[in-house]
Amino acid sequence: MQNLKNQEKSYTREDWQGGYQSLTQEFDYWIDDVEGQIPLELQGTLFRNGPGLLDINGQPIHHPFDGDGMISRITFVNGRAHFRNRFVRTEGYLAEQKAGKILYRGVFGTQKPGGWLANIFDFKIKHIANTNVIYLGEKLLALWEAAEPYRLDPYTLETLGKEYFNNTLSDGEAFGAHPRLDPSCEQDNGQPCLVNFSIKPGLSTTITIFELNLAGKVVRKQAHSVPGFCFIHDFVITPNYCIFFQNPVAFNPIPFALGMRGAGECIKVQPTQPTRIIIIPRFPQPGQTEVKILETTSGFIFHHVNAFEVGNEIFVDSICYDSLPEVEPDSDFRQVDFEKLAPGQLWRFYLNLSDGKVQQKLIEGRCCEFPTIHPANVGRNYRYLYIGAAHAEIGNAPLQAILKLDLETGERQLWSAAPRGFMGEPIFVPLPGAEKEDDGWLLALVYDAAYQRSDVVILDANDVNQGAVARLHLKNHIPYGLHGSFTSKVFSTTSYSGSQ
Ligand code: FE2
Repeated sequence: MQNLKNQEKSYTREDWQGGYQSLTQEFDYWIDDVEGQIPLELQGTLFRNGPGLLDINGQPIHHPFDGDGMISRITFVNGRAHFRNRFVRTEGYLAEQKAGKILYRGVFGTQKPGGWLANIFDFKIKHIANTNVIYLGEKLLALWEAAEPYRLDPYTLETLGKEYFNNTLSDGEAFGAHPRLDPSCEQDNGQPCLVNFSIKPGLSTTITIFELNLAGKVVRKQAHSVPGFCFIHDFVITPNYCIFFQNPVAFNPIPFALGMRGAGECIKVQPTQPTRIIIIPRFPQPGQTEVKILETTSGFIFHHVNAFEVGNEIFVDSICYDSLPEVEPDSDFRQVDFEKLAPGQLWRFYLNLSDGKVQQKLIEGRCCEFPTIHPANVGRNYRYLYIGAAHAEIGNAPLQAILKLDLETGERQLWSAAPRGFMGEPIFVPLPGAEKEDDGWLLALVYDAAYQRSDVVILDANDVNQGAVARLHLKNHIPYGLHGSFTSKVFSTTSYSGSQ
């Protein structure tokens, strides 16, 4: 990290823009350019997903959220690391690559060429499988919240087809991109289970909750109708509840139907409306099936950190925005003026289940996004959280740093890749056998504008201030991604045989 004077901007927009170039190549190599040491105890595989293409054969897409999903895999084994990336071969990806042009509309405003006449009444949206990737039940699943997952081979990253969980999902049925792994589920004799949801929006919205065992089998499923249109991207769980924040938004489908805007561009935040908090019991007993809906002030949330129960209260930690940055049809996302947007900030909500009151407290005012915690504490009281953060304490800016927050003492640690590094979502990986909550590593991809390539950085979560213990320079860049996960299983294509 270079020293930056307080008043200076920590980045240039040109540098930041470099991370939004398509990566068309698919690589498969051992990473030989390593600064520092890859810890020997770090064994397993980091999978990441995100938009790999920002254009289709030169035709730009309108928003990164519309980009075709590309899986990056970094395998750590015996102090070495291997990189591989492959696109998810969705039907839309294959068709557009064959045609060499945009054939589909995207949710966030990508339109077929030819203006509104070419797009009117075309409701067919491309399944882009670009939001998250998880390994469950010997299946590698690329998730996108508006449809079923795509399944890939974890060794080759070959796309195998769509996943319906033994006919639990119907064709095209949604399965969210933000599952939460309950580390110990009482209903399953203390075994872990994966909790996920889907949203079917409309004038009223259906929220379906799925609970899967580690073999990837759906063991519980329940659906509830809640009033109003919902745009819900993430949720949180506790041992007894699923909690959803219903952002105060309205949806006007007419510009979408007329081919003038993407569906996502027809969502408007309603700043005078409250945020509704929907609390659904995970294991409804007869007579206790009711869904509780509480209200709090307006705001917009993409991601939550965690939730836990304290007596008759539920605490929820979330990244909140004053409003949703609206995507305009004629705007270019690369030209965004960060300083004009409200930063995401970390808040704690206190939901009182007895009197229905909600209180909230700002925990961290620094612009931040993409939190991670120790996986054993999902749904439980916890001490440490780690999150992508802006270099500067004040204002809105791209993520360039990782912030560690001690919720007990308030201590902060920070490592910044500014001025030319741009941070992706960190993932916390526990040190095997360790007992301390922060014994482990943080893994993140950093786009390095100085070399127009990405680095895999490994930080010691005990001491984030000291910076990366290893920085693995890839031969290529990876466009800014969304989410990923780590498994202790080692997946790679080849064994290491020196430089390649
Ligand atoms: Fe997300």
